[in-house]
Amino acid sequence: MPKRHLITCALPYANGPIHIGHLAGCFLPSDIHYRYLKMKGEDVLFVCGTDEHGVPITLKAKNEHKTPQEVVDENHTRISQSLYAFGIHFDQFSRTTNSLHHKTAQDFFKTLYQQGVFEEKTAEQLYDEESQQFLADRYIIGTCPTCSYENAYGDQCEQCGRTSNPLELIHPKSALTGNTPVRKETKNWYLPLDQIQKDFLNDWVATKKNTWKSSVFGQCNSWLTDGLKPRAMTRDLDWGVPVPIEGVSHKVMYVWFDAPIGYITATKEAVGEDWTTWWKDPETEIIHFLGKDNIVFHTIIFPAMLYAHGGYNLPTHVPANEFLNLEGDKISTSRNHAIWLHEYLIDFPEKTDELRYVLNSILPETKDADFTWRDFQAKINNELVAILGNFVNRVLVLTHKYYAGAVPQGHIAEDLPNFSEKITQALDQFNQRQGLEAYMEIARYGNKYLQDTAPWKLMKDDSSHQKVADCMVTCLQIVHTLGQYGQVFLPQTAQKILHLLQLTSYQENLISGHSIGEPILLFEKIDDNDILHQISKLEVVEDTEPEQDKEVALTKPFKPMIQYDDFTKLDIRIATIIAAEKVKKADRLLQITLDVGSEKRTVVSGIAEHFSAEEIIGRQVTYLANLAPRTLKGIESNGMILMAEDETGKLRFLSPDEKISAGSLVS
Ligand code: 2FM
Ligand code: ZN
Repeated sequence: MPKRHLITCALPYANGPIHIGHLAGCFLPSDIHYRYLKMKGEDVLFVCGTDEHGVPITLKAKNEHKTPQEVVDENHTRISQSLYAFGIHFDQFSRTTNSLHHKTAQDFFKTLYQQGVFEEKTAEQLYDEESQQFLADRYIIGTCPTCSYENAYGDQCEQCGRTSNPLELIHPKSALTGNTPVRKETKNWYLPLDQIQKDFLNDWVATKKNTWKSSVFGQCNSWLTDGLKPRAMTRDLDWGVPVPIEGVSHKVMYVWFDAPIGYITATKEAVGEDWTTWWKDPETEIIHFLGKDNIVFHTIIFPAMLYAHGGYNLPTHVPANEFLNLEGDKISTSRNHAIWLHEYLIDFPEKTDELRYVLNSILPETKDADFTWRDFQAKINNELVAILGNFVNRVLVLTHKYYAGAVPQGHIAEDLPNFSEKITQALDQFNQRQGLEAYMEIARYGNKYLQDTAPWKLMKDDSSHQKVADCMVTCLQIVHTLGQYGQVFLPQTAQKILHLLQLTSYQENLISGHSIGEPILLFEKIDDNDILHQISKLEVVEDTEPEQDKEVALTKPFKPMIQYDDFTKLDIRIATIIAAEKVKKADRLLQITLDVGSEKRTVVSGIAEHFSAEEIIGRQVTYLANLAPRTLKGIESNGMILMAEDETGKLRFLSPDEKISAGSLVS
């Protein structure tokens, strides 16, 4: 067993708030592991922070007319507040824009540079003259030279899967301005991953075959089998950690070079000089928690950097999770198909353990998982309320009833199972879903034990009173165990139980005569209205937001081919808006009355954040007339007004170039 454990959690990008996918993918698993090791009394440090560099942040700033620093400041604050509220309390939650981080990353870079690790290469790259910048691969779109797909990215074609050099794209366009970029020479510094693979990675990764999850090892191995290529560690940008080479300006480090160094920075902030104990002492193990899209960076690139630098420990475990979907569909921040933590905290105040519980029970440990609001409701009502909350409440009520709230003199049942064994076995293997199941077995056992022993029956017989006392002592011990392990899975509940038991810590045992607090209900049922409200929030967005990633709006692939017959099924017409008003208690919705020629139709449209009701009256729009009706906020919506979204995310109507009769067919 190592002496110390450094737990890192992938740094979230500070280009937006965080959602349940972040929580399930990495924050919750890392926090559970941290809490578990802490509970065992291990020496452990838990670090994270916000990843504040990278091109998307600069684009976001541009779209919002802010500076990149303003964007990351706002998001850092919001992200850290959300995490704190969910009980995720890092030893240090740092930021990659702080000066210590810049210095740490620059020192690291300089060491590699001075050791001659980097390969310097001058090459032509595409440059957008209007925005005066070299274009990152994802911001170049053009025609794929292999399959002629017109919306291929600079580095990859989503239609044929070809990975390419952006210079090979036909008719390249800048996703920033839509202009045709020019070729321009630039020098960059490359990490020779091909060489590091031969010298070190092949052998090192092979040693992980039996310790890493098969999905992690498999992904890592397939990169190695394909053969690594040198990768540029610098970029021609102004936002990032400046490259510390004399005479070099307007170049920053590749965001994936400086981000993992953020773990080192956070450690320095947490423990000062002693940071080397956590990174260099072989008695410390490093555990990186992350989502599957980050595997290559933590199993190949960062280890290659650490190896090339020398003197650092390499990660022992990389328990990466798969993705979480939402109501059967991918979580999408641009379509707003997401449950944002800061919004959840407003809609369900104080119910952080409830979400932790549900996500813990479906963590995408071995395959993608799906969160649904109905399942959320069922798990809270049928498990947290009916099993855990109910047991704790019954025990407290009975203790008050029979013993005026004092722990009676009695013996804990001898055949009480060793609950901790199963939990520990599961958590040592990072099987946190199984760990939670083992935890809930304690409550199930408690309920059954109480029901089978039935102290209320024994109480009627004077000669059985000792059995009642033994039963209640046993039940109180089970409540204590639920509180103790609750510290790992349900921190807020663990605190409540501690308070109910009137103890100052779970190190303290319940001794006879000790007074416990008044019974309370630990959880309350979630009612249908709350769930319907949440589901309708998602439905509204699906109806109205085009499926586009705003930051790369021009790059969205086309949908699969359809036949002419499919197209003729759509009844598309020109309609005139004759009335519009805001829908009460729905920020995004307008109720719109359309003249469709032969009749009037009502449509509920999620455009209220883009247009006021007054400004759209009289407008002609394109209208899909035969979409099956659906009810939003109690109003039946018939058909759909078609909209286009520009590259900044703003919606536009599709109107005829001259006024024509309402009801005219579009074909
Ligand atoms: O994918 C992401 O969200 C990245 N910001 C993760 C960075 S992890 C680390 F290396 F810092
Ligand atoms: Zn292609």
